[in-house]
Amino acid sequence: MNLYSYIETFGCQMNERDSEIMAQLIGDAYSPTRSLSKADVVVVNTCSIREKAEQKAFSMLGRLRKLKKKNPSMVIAVAGCVAQQEGRNIRKRMPHVDIVIGPQNLYRLPELIADVKRDNETKVKTDISPEFVIPPFLPSIKAGHPFKRFVTIMQGCNNFCTYCVVPYTRGREISRDPADIIDEITHLVQNGIREVTLIGQNVNSYGLDRKNATFPDLLRAVAGITGIERIRFTTSHPKDLSEDLMRCFAEIDALCSHIHLPVQAGSNSVLKRMNRKYTLESYLDKISKLKTFCPDIVITTDIIVGFPGETDEDFDQTMQLLETVRYHGAYSFKYSDRPQAPSCDFSDKVPEDVKSARLHLLQSRQEEITVERHNEFIGRTMPLVVEGRSKSSDGRWCGRTDTNHIVNFTGADTLQPGRTVQVVIEEACLNSLRGRLKKH
Ligand code: 5AD
Ligand code: SF4
Repeated sequence: MNLYSYIETFGCQMNERDSEIMAQLIGDAYSPTRSLSKADVVVVNTCSIREKAEQKAFSMLGRLRKLKKKNPSMVIAVAGCVAQQEGRNIRKRMPHVDIVIGPQNLYRLPELIADVKRDNETKVKTDISPEFVIPPFLPSIKAGHPFKRFVTIMQGCNNFCTYCVVPYTRGREISRDPADIIDEITHLVQNGIREVTLIGQNVNSYGLDRKNATFPDLLRAVAGITGIERIRFTTSHPKDLSEDLMRCFAEIDALCSHIHLPVQAGSNSVLKRMNRKYTLESYLDKISKLKTFCPDIVITTDIIVGFPGETDEDFDQTMQLLETVRYHGAYSFKYSDRPQAPSCDFSDKVPEDVKSARLHLLQSRQEEITVERHNEFIGRTMPLVVEGRSKSSDGRWCGRTDTNHIVNFTGADTLQPGRTVQVVIEEACLNSLRGRLKKH
């Protein structure tokens, strides 16, 4: 009899990769399905970084309660940061959950499923240790994207930004052995993968816990793998953006001209209370220096509005920052209290309506800037890696630039996904560009 698994992922790319790993770990016993009612094992891989993300995970778990009533032998696992945060307590709200498994324990999923089936009781694995070693693990080629993949290079975070739950759910920074990372990417490239995104909560400090590797060294080693065409990485902490790393953008052809550099706020007093460990001036200096190495680099960011104590003047400084940097894109969020985050106890919480108004102002202005930035591409010929047919079903193709822009374009009947083509940009929208294939 065939058995099936259904894995739902919330949150960041780390979770996406963790879900792929879990799918592979149980793949021999359980084939993936997209039909929940067919599933024998359901894994909800959760995120708790913001309140909204956590609510989404809980609402999916709530929906599973009914399914479990119909099919009591279904095994329901909660993974990721909500699992780590709630541990056994999750059973109070969600008694139908069978497995609670934290991010450091995901490799034990097959064993936990077997334990639940044998003992018929909830299994909780949320131990977390600074001694944890991320095991070597060769990704499946059959499952997953045909030409680009995420590669986890480190887990955890040592920064303790005061609003953030990650250091508590993911633990201290643990870098993978560089040899394991190189083996993993070599295996991918030998099997047709041409693009990798190196992921971690704080990739710029990769290697600080190992003493035998730095992030720029790792980038150079990855770039040395024959056949690798594009390298991306995320996420960076501005305080760890070194000159050596900036130089990589000038020296490594395969390194894409895009950096996601979360600023969070434009006011020094807010940055200080966030414990970001940089000032607005030092952040802007780094951006200027980065541009001397890579003048065309595309910079995106994350911004939190309504951090406790944020005044109108503080917020104005964040608005001013948008004008100074002119980000190509920004993800922005209303501050929310997260369990264990020190800012929960800060006074002067900003009222919800003020947070909403600030978010609206910031997003409206950033949308204008994004479109203005996109307009700058019009008339340029850009190399794209073809992803497939565009979603708009108007016969266009879709590809991605090395600056991470999606371009929908005309001009070909057939194209091989993964191929690089030259496209002339003709139009700019908020979320994508439009163009036509350049004839040779
Ligand atoms: N409230 C709002 N946004 C948050 N982020 C992290 N923690 C919080 C919080 N408590 C945002 C930051 C981070 C992004 C991934 O999520 O901007 O960079
Ligand atoms: Fe959270 Fe700050 Fe670490 Fe990012 S750097 S994961 S925001 S504590």
